[in-house]
Amino acid sequence: MKRKILISALILSIAGSGCTTSKSEWHSYSGDKTIEHKVDSVLSLMTLEEKIGQMTQFSSHGDITGPIVNEDIEPYLKKGLIGSIFNAVTVEGIRKLQEQALAESRLKIPVLFGYDVVHGFKTIFPIPLAESCSWDLYQIKKSAAIAAEEASAAGIAWTFAPMIDIVRDARWGRVMEGAGEDTYLGALIAEAKVKGFQGNHWKDLYNTNTILACAKHFCAYGAAESGRDYNTVDVSDRTLREVYFPPFKAAKDAGVATFMTAFNEISGIPCTASKYLFRDVLKDEWQFNGFVVTDYTAINELVPHGVAQDEEQAAELAVNAGVDMDMTGGVYLHNLKTLVEEGKVSENTIDNAVRRILEMKFILGLFDDPYRYLDEKREKETILKPEFLQAAREIGNRSIVLLKNNNQFFPITKDRQLTVALIGPMVKNRTSMNGEWSARGNKNESASLFDGLTEKYKNTNIKFLYAEGCDLKEPGTEGFAEAINIARKADIIIAAMGEDYNWSGEAASRSNIKLPGSQQKLLKELKKTGKPIGLVLMNGRPLDLSWEDKNIDAIMEAWYLGTMAGHSIADVIVGDYNPSAKLTMSFPRNAGQLPIYYNRKNTGRPLPEDNPKMDYRSSYLDVENSPLYPFGYGLSYTTFQYSKPSISSGILTKNGELKVSVTITNTGNYDGEEIVQLYIQDVTASVTRPIKELKGFQKLNIKKGESVTADFIIREKDLGFLRLDNTWGTEPGEYKVFVGNDSENVQELKFSLVE
Ligand code: BGC
Repeated sequence: MKRKILISALILSIAGSGCTTSKSEWHSYSGDKTIEHKVDSVLSLMTLEEKIGQMTQFSSHGDITGPIVNEDIEPYLKKGLIGSIFNAVTVEGIRKLQEQALAESRLKIPVLFGYDVVHGFKTIFPIPLAESCSWDLYQIKKSAAIAAEEASAAGIAWTFAPMIDIVRDARWGRVMEGAGEDTYLGALIAEAKVKGFQGNHWKDLYNTNTILACAKHFCAYGAAESGRDYNTVDVSDRTLREVYFPPFKAAKDAGVATFMTAFNEISGIPCTASKYLFRDVLKDEWQFNGFVVTDYTAINELVPHGVAQDEEQAAELAVNAGVDMDMTGGVYLHNLKTLVEEGKVSENTIDNAVRRILEMKFILGLFDDPYRYLDEKREKETILKPEFLQAAREIGNRSIVLLKNNNQFFPITKDRQLTVALIGPMVKNRTSMNGEWSARGNKNESASLFDGLTEKYKNTNIKFLYAEGCDLKEPGTEGFAEAINIARKADIIIAAMGEDYNWSGEAASRSNIKLPGSQQKLLKELKKTGKPIGLVLMNGRPLDLSWEDKNIDAIMEAWYLGTMAGHSIADVIVGDYNPSAKLTMSFPRNAGQLPIYYNRKNTGRPLPEDNPKMDYRSSYLDVENSPLYPFGYGLSYTTFQYSKPSISSGILTKNGELKVSVTITNTGNYDGEEIVQLYIQDVTASVTRPIKELKGFQKLNIKKGESVTADFIIREKDLGFLRLDNTWGTEPGEYKVFVGNDSENVQELKFSLVE
């Protein structure tokens, strides 16, 4: 308390005395004059070393994702030379570090504590790729808000999320962290996540249950060649602006406080040294006034990238590119002073970076009270609240995609009398349920499928038998005999298979995306029993399921659903929740098709739909061009019939709008939810355009026997792209509209855009 008064008094006294530091280039994030004044007041007291300290972030001894930087942080912390620490994760631990930082340092500037709170903190939600399949922006915002509430109760004020990289290549392990392949949906999800973590307005950040968000990784990290993590990226400015930028622009517009650089290069320039990305686009064009942090040791990595001969030059490139904070590299800490003295970096550049960082600390109220987040009682009361667990279960329900369901294998209703063989390495697995980036989620306490099913079918005539059958990763057939034996005793088989959680995530690229180890082999043996098989998958990427699709009766993609995984899946298996999710990434027929995405270009030699075998066309000799399961695809236990869609006019004027309507009737036996999708194609333009682009969707609740009409409004501004002259806008001409239940199963309409 004493310390709090001291800091406030200090700031007030300086606030009145005016500030001499040049303010050019700095526009505050909040736009609040009082905060600006306070930022300047503190800045005017700081030495160059202290400023550089604010631009320095180190990891405490928590989770690490790169080389351990052999730096004892304590001496720097005590001198006030560390602006931020990440991976410190409890009130007790954070309090200790904050006390150290404030006890002896000259200006007693509070440290900002960050952490990777990606899909939950203690209560783990479905991985972001799974959650995106819900297309449910309300639920997505809610899961981020709960994650923020739990993390902030543990003393954390900043998350390195959302990850909003567009992902088109399932070999890349980090597809599990994103919202899939579509830019339009990705941008909406980015906005929902940012607002979930931070609140709707910067002033909400003062509340102790919100945290700063971080839009990462800027940019095009998901376009890594061959799907190999950290690999080279070479995309055009057109692709950047049309495909990769929009979710980041949406995050910026939603008020995201921070951005993170990406590890990759783009067309020869590593992102962390890219003036184009951080100064020209982010800070100048988009007027982003928060701050930029590097990814883990990304400045140091400019040396092996080959654009800096040593770390001093790397620091120069990064800071001049507009990168404000160095994550764990220690490169700013050890080099910026010399660079300023040598005139290679201006003090103004340093000041502007520091202002951005200090402003966030003011907005969070850390200068009012550096301990305001730290309350053991709140920490204890907040984590794993029953309503958080319930929310995780419900979002889990909405994330499960039913890929195939012959003879209505699912649902398995409670009124039946059945013996079910539960076979596979995922049946009792708890440790993989959370997936990667599961923060403080307790891997051993997440509900397995077995936990969920045994609880769900308690006191019914559904009986379960179990055999693991094989390992998740390692090949081996030792368990097959027992599994087949168990399967023979049952009426039906539920096979639960997938990927070990750390087979998808950072540094978890795969060249073969079939079920790992001997799992498919086991399925082949199970098939020989002649029993109906339902396959429940838990994994972090689209898999190659060509064999399974041909041979297995039903397939349910359950991803990694987090703490309540087993219960979420059991709700769907029994039919308490009718699946409604739709894929946000195409599932390829084999890895050779990758990258594969629905909003591709036509080429000069497209394959005619009525002649998929035509020679000298853009096609494969050994596999179809189309994915196995397209973007937007997913089944329900009920059936939906689409009417012929209508359009209010064949002409769209520049300031006008068109209405597209379609009526959907639930013709099956269950109430259900349907995600109706609207796509558009600009048929001829000055540059090539995708064959389809999602421009709208509606998630409708339709009771059995009932019909609901979905209306979509199309306006000129929805049709913009980067034209031949590099300006953003539209061109008059013919457009196609597609309405349907996935990106392939659509009905077509037309209109013309006129000047
Ligand atoms: C990842 C980032 C993450 C950071 C800190 C890096 O390896 O790429 O996404 O935020 O580590 O854990």
